[in-house]
Amino acid sequence: MYYIGIDLGTSSVKGLLVDEKGKIIKEASANYSVYYPQSGWSEQNPQDWLNATNGIINDLSEGKKSEIGGISFGGQMHGLVILDEHDEVIRSCILWNDGRTQKQTAYLNEQVGKEKLSEFTANVAFAGFTAPKILWVKENEPENFARISKIMLPKDYLAYMLTGVHATDYSDASGTLLLDVKNKRWSDEMCEICSVKKEWLPKLYESFEVIGRVKAEYGLPNAVVTAGAGDNAAAAIGTGTVGDGDCNISLGTSGTVFISKDGFSVDDKNGLHSFVHATGKWHLMGCILSAASCNKWWIEDILKSDNYDLATHGAEEKLGKNDVFFLPYLMGERSPHNDVNARGSFIGLRPDTSREEMALAVMEGVAFALKDCIEIARYSGLTVNSSNICGGGAKSKLWKKIVANVLNLEVYCTETEQGPAYGAAILAMVGNGEYKDVSSACKNIVRKKDLIKPDAVLVKLYEKKYAAFKTLYPSLKDFFALTYGNN
Ligand code: XUL
Repeated sequence: MYYIGIDLGTSSVKGLLVDEKGKIIKEASANYSVYYPQSGWSEQNPQDWLNATNGIINDLSEGKKSEIGGISFGGQMHGLVILDEHDEVIRSCILWNDGRTQKQTAYLNEQVGKEKLSEFTANVAFAGFTAPKILWVKENEPENFARISKIMLPKDYLAYMLTGVHATDYSDASGTLLLDVKNKRWSDEMCEICSVKKEWLPKLYESFEVIGRVKAEYGLPNAVVTAGAGDNAAAAIGTGTVGDGDCNISLGTSGTVFISKDGFSVDDKNGLHSFVHATGKWHLMGCILSAASCNKWWIEDILKSDNYDLATHGAEEKLGKNDVFFLPYLMGERSPHNDVNARGSFIGLRPDTSREEMALAVMEGVAFALKDCIEIARYSGLTVNSSNICGGGAKSKLWKKIVANVLNLEVYCTETEQGPAYGAAILAMVGNGEYKDVSSACKNIVRKKDLIKPDAVLVKLYEKKYAAFKTLYPSLKDFFALTYGNN
């Protein structure tokens, strides 16, 4: 049998056709737009996702329609998709990196209180999470709020259109701030706080559980649809990050540090998200809002180039010595600053600053911001000495070397870089009974390829640079608030 894994990303949807041994048979992808209706806002049209996904499913299944055993998804998390009683999408999806909910986030964290939020959900509020967006719609678009009949996350919209079943999985539901993560059920308290009727919410499944079958019009008579996972949990499956303490770093549009945990836990100050894993267990995660997107912005939008190698040519010699710094807060920042007003910034420019130094600063800035996340994990007692890596940015050898040395980690690359889509295909296989559980599927399928070891000299140099980097955000915080804040 063959399986289709779909990664519903922010810049594109990517699909893989994989056989039951995990061999990639075919790949396909399609781009769509992100709309920025106001500064700091970001939206997408669910119909664009659906059109792109339908095309990909058609393309991947061509000539093999009756041999497709299952389909599953990894999806951009936290997006708010709302449908009315006729299943019409009410408004564009408000995405995970949208910062419009400053007021609602402050209300949740300060009026309801972080302690209560953590007790109800194991997390505190961040602007990109789904619950503050629901409050925003209630306050700013009451006519839309009054029409809500179903709430779902981005990938769940695709699954709904494919199967007619209103479902989600625990890993993605964790990022709504409506899930009681510890007990794996919707939180009554959070539903009341956010004026959400329980019947609006999807039915909860484990990521590897079958939610239904593909509608007849798709012509895939033997394909089951498995619930799938948030893209980071799916990526972790795709890189085999399933054991207690295993780590995965994703250099996608966002950047994440994902630590798989056998048991439920919350760190001291809720610095890391505490979410359910696609294995059925749990994970801790730090998320920076702009990672590979910083590089894309710098090279494609600013340098007007598509030659990523040329932009960093000669930069390797400057590793650890670059005195230009970059703050990667192009969309504000989530972990650890939780600040929608923060902005991307270059610091330390001189007349002789070169293009390579600026390109290197962008990659280093992202790595330093990821280090901010891993430091929270280390501070709360977790040992993280090695990590898998995936995402578009992981195609760059140079960037992987920077990550290994800035974070002082052994970095493992897997044969397949397409973390979320590959993970989704694995979830589809488990759903259709090819493997008894996710861990044994990963053990059989996921292969490590290269290992990048940190170099003691570079690690020392980067420790000093990181100490300097850490002073930048606190020095600029008031400036960001005064200049880019609402009040
Ligand atoms: C995770 C997060 C991002 C999106 C990107 O909390 O917001 O990684 O899932 O797709």
